[in-house]
Amino acid sequence: MCGIVAYVGAREAFPTIIEGLKRLEYRGYDSAGVCIHNHRLRVFKKSGKVNELKKSAVDAQNAGCTGIGHTRWATHGPPTDINAHPHLSNSGNLSIVHNGIIENYLSLKEELIKKGYTFYSDTDTEVLVNFIEEVSLHHTGTLEEALGLALKRVVGAYGLVLLDVNQPGTILAARKGSPMVVGVGKNEHFVASDASPFIEFTNEVVYLKNEEIAVVTKDKLKLINLENIGQTAYIEILDLELEEIEKGGYDHFMLKEIFEQPRSVSDCMRGRVEPARNLLKLGGLQNNAKPLYRAERILITACGTSYYAGLVAEYLFEDLCRIPVEVEYASEFRYRNPIIREGDVVIAISQSGETADTLVAVEMAKDLGATVYGVCNVVASSIARATDAGVYTHAGPEIGVASTKAFTAQLTVLTMMALLAAKYKGTITHPEFANKLSALAGIPAIISRVLEQQEYIKEIAYQFRNADNFLYLGRGYNYPVALEGALKLKEISYIHAEGYPAAEMKHGPIALVDEDMPIVVIATRDHAYDKIVSNIQELKSRKGKVIAVVTEGDQTLPDMVDYTIEIPQVDQHLTPLISVVPLQLLAYHIGVLKGCNVDQPRNLAKSVTVE
Ligand code: G6P
Repeated sequence: MCGIVAYVGAREAFPTIIEGLKRLEYRGYDSAGVCIHNHRLRVFKKSGKVNELKKSAVDAQNAGCTGIGHTRWATHGPPTDINAHPHLSNSGNLSIVHNGIIENYLSLKEELIKKGYTFYSDTDTEVLVNFIEEVSLHHTGTLEEALGLALKRVVGAYGLVLLDVNQPGTILAARKGSPMVVGVGKNEHFVASDASPFIEFTNEVVYLKNEEIAVVTKDKLKLINLENIGQTAYIEILDLELEEIEKGGYDHFMLKEIFEQPRSVSDCMRGRVEPARNLLKLGGLQNNAKPLYRAERILITACGTSYYAGLVAEYLFEDLCRIPVEVEYASEFRYRNPIIREGDVVIAISQSGETADTLVAVEMAKDLGATVYGVCNVVASSIARATDAGVYTHAGPEIGVASTKAFTAQLTVLTMMALLAAKYKGTITHPEFANKLSALAGIPAIISRVLEQQEYIKEIAYQFRNADNFLYLGRGYNYPVALEGALKLKEISYIHAEGYPAAEMKHGPIALVDEDMPIVVIATRDHAYDKIVSNIQELKSRKGKVIAVVTEGDQTLPDMVDYTIEIPQVDQHLTPLISVVPLQLLAYHIGVLKGCNVDQPRNLAKSVTVE
């Protein structure tokens, strides 16, 4: 939620920050703003996308070489010009941009109003900047010390950067919960929510830790904690290329990421799966696998698409390892009183590694004594660092807000983890293990074959682009895929869609079926095939329009349904890796045909760092 970019050095700050903000728009895109320090603080801000700001701030181009910027996903107050960041303190001396939520902002605001402060926006951020100002006015030391004192009284999450009119060429940054990374250049520094805004300038980064403050000038980076005790800055070298975060000739990031899946799934397996040597090794589990394969119970926690990957993992671990599994939304897990017993392990799944609810669920599970594994895409993200061990998905940066390649990479990792645990536990025979390993290695090529059907899937999308509702049905391993297919469509085309276990539709959704209801049924050849054929007959009897995802060579369903999309036969444990691909393409093309902004759907954000 919300993206932050700040710069200090010799470049013009405004264009540098604007280009950086564009790369962070996946974090929020309802308004944007920049403040430049050049003898005075000049604020340029506007509701709408970063480009709107760029167009409107005509005199900002040469405004100065120190600045802070923000792209917003509204929490407190609608996306108006006034609510856009940066926010100035009442004196006009401090300017702030902030990502996160200040939970005690109302009590702080009352306190400040009594002291004569005035507020112009609805935001918690404006309260924060005035609170910092108020503390600094009563503190004789430096602003960074005052910032530490102020932040000690703040309840909630923040990633923030601050400019002080009295400190030219200096940026203050702090974080708790929301990520903040400093890019260390030659005589210049960047501060941002992630490294994408500055990756073409430097790959040397310092991740701020929780409750750390950075004082950044063009040639110096000083870290302190909230008690003003100096901290060491550990420079890490990032392995990220600019082209990984560009569209590379595709119309949208989402399409690029759908088409990247053969590569991303193979990257995910690189150095880990070697069928020729019957080898499966996961570096992240090398010294930490025991709790997993000895687990009495596995609890999986995640949000959104990652949660659906968790549902597939439930079937995988139960089937292959005979370990009971429960899957729970992180937001539910953290707010009830979950039972964690000795021998329980928790797996947290998160593309960004920054989802606030998942992060708190991880911390809670650790406090309750569980061994917690992470399945994250973003290296060194908060969840990756908070877990005891884990396996990265290595899908590369995912920019499209609707998750695609991260999902298939998560499935790949979870399959590898389940296979490894099954091997250690002895719940899989050697030939079975070897067969599954080869099948897994063959998945990227099969995804490529499915992608060849894009034009045909586009035609189907055209037929159904004006539908008001969709149903998605699947059984077994394809049930979570049905949920994910429905989520994709909702997210990017705003068509109401529901995913259901195919047989369960008799207990409710069938009442919705008529000639206007498109129903996507994943009906691949597996043990439930005959049952799902019966379900399709029930739908056709009620005139539903059925689009069936079937196994290549299916002789029965093409005559029974309106459209079939064929996918190659694969091992049933690997089916979701394939069956989800046509659903991603269907959702994408319907969204595009409807004229929706598929990369940045309304009201959504890529990384939900507020609860
Ligand atoms: C947001 C994104 C989804 C994502 C979910 C969980 O809602 O729009 O695409 O699945 O967060 O994110 P995570 O980064 O934890 O996987």
